Amino acid sequence: MKSLKHLFDRNSAWANGIKEKDPEFFSQLSKQQSPKYLWIGCSDSRVPANQIVNLPPGELFVHRNIANLVVHTDLNCLSVIQYAVEVLKVKHIIICGHYGCGGIKAAMENQPHGLIDNWLRHIKDVGRFNAEKLNGLKDDKKFDMLCELNVIEQVKNVCNTTIVQNTWRQGSELLVHGWIYNIQNGILKDLDTCISANQQLKGK
Ligand code: CO
Repeated sequence: MKSLKHLFDRNSAWANGIKEKDPEFFSQLSKQQSPKYLWIGCSDSRVPANQIVNLPPGELFVHRNIANLVVHTDLNCLSVIQYAVEVLKVKHIIICGHYGCGGIKAAMENQPHGLIDNWLRHIKDVGRFNAEKLNGLKDDKKFDMLCELNVIEQVKNVCNTTIVQNTWRQGSELLVHGWIYNIQNGILKDLDTCISANQQLKGK
């Protein structure tokens, strides 16, 4: 017996809906993928990458984890970046955070959460790097600000990977963007932190 039958029902309805509009959609897409963007976002169920930017399958290469972190030694995330940049030749990497992020909130607390605290340490570090900007802010403002600062920090982390550094050294075009999504109204905001060369990284 198939479990979670309702999900399989939804799947066939979805696939049939697409095939009705474009009978060749899946057969064409099965031959190759050529997404133009790598999306690094939060695992939060309210922040679904393709839907937010209204793109169909095939248009977005995606990596998601708690609080959209790019940790220098995370082989999972680094492998995604390498494949996206070196094989798929994406020209845009988007780090997309979101307001109301549970990972950021947990990192602001002082109570233990178990294993995940090791992951959240990276967000606490972002808070420490930016203590001057955060000190004195009320809790709500501090929460929003840390969600934004975390995106900006992850943009820098992407830029500092050997993958992006090598790409720029070769003179290839690659832009790293920092965005934030508002789960209260569905709207994306560009944090104007786009970096496309090492000169722009200095002093950031
Ligand atoms: Co989140």
